[in-house]
Amino acid sequence: MLTLRNIAELVLVPPGPVPGRAMGDVRTVTSAALAIEDERIVWMGSDRDAPRSPGAQELDAGDGCVVPGLVDCHTHTVFAGTREHEFVERIRGKSYAQIAEEGGGIRVTVEAVRRTSSQELIALALRRLRRMLHHGVTTVEIKSGYGLTVDDELKMLYVVRELARLQPIELVPTFLAAHTVPAEYAGRTDDYLDTLFADAVLARLRDERLAEFCDVFCERTAFTVEQSRRVLAKAKRYGLRPKLHADQISQMGASALAGELAAVSADHLEHIDDHGIDALHGAETVAVLLPGCSFFLGVQQAPARRLLDADLPVALGTDYNPGSSMIESLPLVMSIACTQMRLTPLEALVAATANAAAAVDRHRRLGAVQPGMQADLVILDVPDHRRWMYEPGRNCVRTVIKRGQVVAEPSAREE
Ligand code: NIG
Ligand code: FE
Repeated sequence: MLTLRNIAELVLVPPGPVPGRAMGDVRTVTSAALAIEDERIVWMGSDRDAPRSPGAQELDAGDGCVVPGLVDCHTHTVFAGTREHEFVERIRGKSYAQIAEEGGGIRVTVEAVRRTSSQELIALALRRLRRMLHHGVTTVEIKSGYGLTVDDELKMLYVVRELARLQPIELVPTFLAAHTVPAEYAGRTDDYLDTLFADAVLARLRDERLAEFCDVFCERTAFTVEQSRRVLAKAKRYGLRPKLHADQISQMGASALAGELAAVSADHLEHIDDHGIDALHGAETVAVLLPGCSFFLGVQQAPARRLLDADLPVALGTDYNPGSSMIESLPLVMSIACTQMRLTPLEALVAATANAAAAVDRHRRLGAVQPGMQADLVILDVPDHRRWMYEPGRNCVRTVIKRGQVVAEPSAREE
């Protein structure tokens, strides 16, 4: 048994999906302790009542706050090359869509990924994952989508599989071949989709368990609602559950489609309308918001409060990618959600743990502090969760615990 003692505030995040109106209703225990056995939380309560069993190990939380390990439920962490030239073009007035329409954007990263060996992609992503772990992230979803040939998409998914073996963060692979139409298929979108979503490809993803979800960028610069419906419905028959990049740049009915397909999550939602909100509600789809992306692009944020008021389970992710969100830090994104979307720190924490776990179908095991849940926990160098988000840009993470083991100690305790 491992007992965490001397916890100033233990946040009792319940298992997801937590509906929007309940996200601020989470209990905390002050002067708390928590016991772990066989990778699971077995007890929590007041420090005074901490179980003392012979041979138990103790870990002093040093009057820090303890929260569930963060789940980054939407990332594009495997990529090569960088696109700071686009960052500057946008500052000078170009939009993200304009850059894509002129042949930049995703296609630039696709060329870089095709040229880069698996070994090099692994080395690049390992460094990124190490830094994410140090920010308290213990589970990360990673999408393909920068290969856009059968072989290059498979290459990306094999890279994710290898990364899962090489470091402590649990990885969730998503097939995003429908990210954009590659240059060699310009004007032949349906041919492209037929090739990448051929039965043999989907059967291989299923048989080798290379992906759990299928995502589509449903947008005027990428795929229509009809094309998205077609490929997501087909992928679902091969066991890949649907996700969607929906309503990011324009309103085309993508969130309504997410509801129609009972997608696990609908992500972005900067331009969601009432019809889309109703559709997600009926389907129990998690609304994944990516405020770091709007911050990075300098565009409007998704209407988060409206989604919470509609009682949708809302999650947060970084959308980490070299084009629209070069942000590895989920705690920074949580701070942005507080100040730019008016989520309270508690709502932001639930969004990045229990509800993010629901967005990757891991809410029965991850994202909550409750007996029986996997012991993925973060000890912070601040006494309560509000102080964490109140200090964006400072890494407040002291200790990261994955499956009951200490896996990182990024910051020594401050005196
Ligand atoms: O989620 N929207 C599409 N995909 C990414 C951007 C990828 C890129 O620009 O490289 C996103 O914002
Ligand atoms: Fe994305």
